[in-house]
Amino acid sequence: MVNLGVLVSGSGSNLQAIIDNIEAGRLNARIKIVVSNVPDVFALERARKHGISSMVISHAGCRREDFDQKLVDVLKANEVELVILAGYMRMITSVLLRAFPMRVMNIHPALLPAFPGTHVWQTEVDYGVKFAGCTVHFVDEGTDTGPIIIQAVVPVYDDDTADTLNARILKQEHKIFSQAIQLYAEGRLEIKGRRVLARGLAKAPDSFMINPPAKIFDS
Ligand code: GRF
Repeated sequence: MVNLGVLVSGSGSNLQAIIDNIEAGRLNARIKIVVSNVPDVFALERARKHGISSMVISHAGCRREDFDQKLVDVLKANEVELVILAGYMRMITSVLLRAFPMRVMNIHPALLPAFPGTHVWQTEVDYGVKFAGCTVHFVDEGTDTGPIIIQAVVPVYDDDTADTLNARILKQEHKIFSQAIQLYAEGRLEIKGRRVLARGLAKAPDSFMINPPAKIFDS
């Protein structure tokens, strides 16, 4: 059973998926504390509804490092082993990373290393990519650069908007974040340089998707 500390800044749909998977017995973890850097966000309401401790740590007038030290104190006091950034919209510093080395996981709504940063859906639509997706990775000192644990791919359609693409990606986020945490909880993740190996799992099928579908060459 792995003790989680979940950091949020907004709606918390990823937090909800993790809660649901824990309650359904699919995820062998326990959320010790939910911390938001923004007051009154819906993620806090979700935590309350499920009887999970939560708190707001305001970053107003606080140096990034001092803010992260407050976070570390709260996370350690709650015996957190793995820190989950679930829609946490604040840059973290080495203060948090040193306290939890390779034990901070983030979800990013793109197939990294493509499209790091924020508001990626419109950028992807405008760029014209035919596939998009999401990535769970360990956090390092860079922005969305840490070792990749798991990714899911979705098609991008001609009539997509940022909102429709976001919705399609979010559905997959809700699956792979819990999957990544479960792999950690089972002790299957081995970090080798940039690569995260998931020991003892069947390989993904050796199949492919083509978008738009290549009908003429079907055989
Ligand atoms: C998600 O798109 C996630 O990838 C990004 O922020 C969004 C958070 O959504 N990091 P939610 O707060 O979990 O609903």
